[in-house]
Amino acid sequence: MTGRTVIRGGLVITASDEIHADVLIEDGRIAALAASGTPAAGAFTAERVVDATGKYVIPGGVDAHTHMELPFGGTFASDTFETGTRAAAWGGTTTIVDFAVQSVGHTLREGLDAWHAKAEGNCAIDYAFHMIVSDVHDETLKEMDLLVEEGVTSFKQFMAYPGVFYSDDGQILRAMQRSADNGGLIMMHAENGIAIDVLVQQALDRGETDPRYHGEVRKALLEAEATHRAIRLAQVAGAPLYVVHVSAMEAVAELARARDEGLPVFGETCPQYLFLSTDNLAEPDFEGAKYVCSTPLRPREHQAKLWQGLRTNDLQVVSTDHCPFCFTGQKELGRGDFSKIPNGLPGVENRMDLLHQAVVDGHISRRRWIEIACATPARMFGLYPKKGTIAPGADADIVIYDPHAEQIMSAQTHHMNVDYSAYEGKRTTGRVETVLSRGVPVITEREYTGHAGHGVYTPRSTCQYLN
Ligand code: URP
Ligand code: ZN
Ligand code: ZN
Ligand code: ZN
Repeated sequence: MTGRTVIRGGLVITASDEIHADVLIEDGRIAALAASGTPAAGAFTAERVVDATGKYVIPGGVDAHTHMELPFGGTFASDTFETGTRAAAWGGTTTIVDFAVQSVGHTLREGLDAWHAKAEGNCAIDYAFHMIVSDVHDETLKEMDLLVEEGVTSFKQFMAYPGVFYSDDGQILRAMQRSADNGGLIMMHAENGIAIDVLVQQALDRGETDPRYHGEVRKALLEAEATHRAIRLAQVAGAPLYVVHVSAMEAVAELARARDEGLPVFGETCPQYLFLSTDNLAEPDFEGAKYVCSTPLRPREHQAKLWQGLRTNDLQVVSTDHCPFCFTGQKELGRGDFSKIPNGLPGVENRMDLLHQAVVDGHISRRRWIEIACATPARMFGLYPKKGTIAPGADADIVIYDPHAEQIMSAQTHHMNVDYSAYEGKRTTGRVETVLSRGVPVITEREYTGHAGHGVYTPRSTCQYLN
């Protein structure tokens, strides 16, 4: 894309600043900013002028946790890279970092190649990969070094899901030691899956089969215990640690304590933990299955501690963990046995709006909104300042956001390939108007103007949040 665009008159918000500025875009990158109405801004000339008066001009969202087409629970996540990245764009997200999967008995390379094949030519926005490591042995450790060199610089391990993705403490320690050497970042699914599986079986034996028991057996204490163990294993290895999808306030406390000790420990939470609760899991007629994910939704009192963690920087990132399964035919696999409900929630389209609602509700500031949704995920995963900010030289991944428009979230109007919304009927203030990806309009005044294949694979550097 050549040619110049200027975005005039909006309030440019980054993690550090709010300024009324005009933004000049050239060849897909931000060329210059100048205070609106000044001679410098007046001197910007372009073939295309976008009027952003009364709107916010923000960096495109960076969603560092998605699972397009993930094979899981005997089925596949229902968004493909094509449908999922289109929905992301509708929601103001311009980069996703999805999880390639190493299956047990296979190499990291095989898993990564398979994910490249799924994504290539299909994405509406730019994408990168983390690697799920399910089978730690000598060869895997060597492959981790190679992946870091080629731009896959983070590795997810699971203390949950025995027999699927699970790693034991020794495997985790070995991968952490390796990442201490090669600069990779270990991302941890911190739940004690061995203990949880015992509680699952005991619940089913008692005839407790409803979705709400999913929340009861996956106890907050077992998230906190695993979080603590992961922190100490990382400390022993001398490695940084990023804990994914934190939902329990007891786990936040573990992170806060470790950070107070000066450890390089980071935490991510997700909109579902901030806005939904075990009340949703308890919805009758199997409706609770729509809210089955792991870590699970928690009782409402946990939410205040998550918001607090986001304000105090004990939690640094909000990602979606977008892993949609349709209610019909997919979530229904677990009728009569909650442990067979595929785990995961849709949300890639909703994150920027829900977090803007958090600004409206007074939980976080506007700049913190951009920090946790754009800038920090970009820095954490080595995409900054190409992604996550509005500054000269950065990719022109820009959202024009109307902070006053009202909307009602619904499966009737969303673009994710899933037959329900986790936020059905929720009223929010604020809405994406226009989205540019490397200067190309993907959403233009509430119309999709992008195309599959515009989005490109984006290799990453190592974590930039450590330095
Ligand atoms: O329930 C969830 N979170 N499904 C996706 C897989 C994972 O553990 O992130
Ligand atoms: Zn997980
Ligand atoms: Zn996930
Ligand atoms: Zn294109």
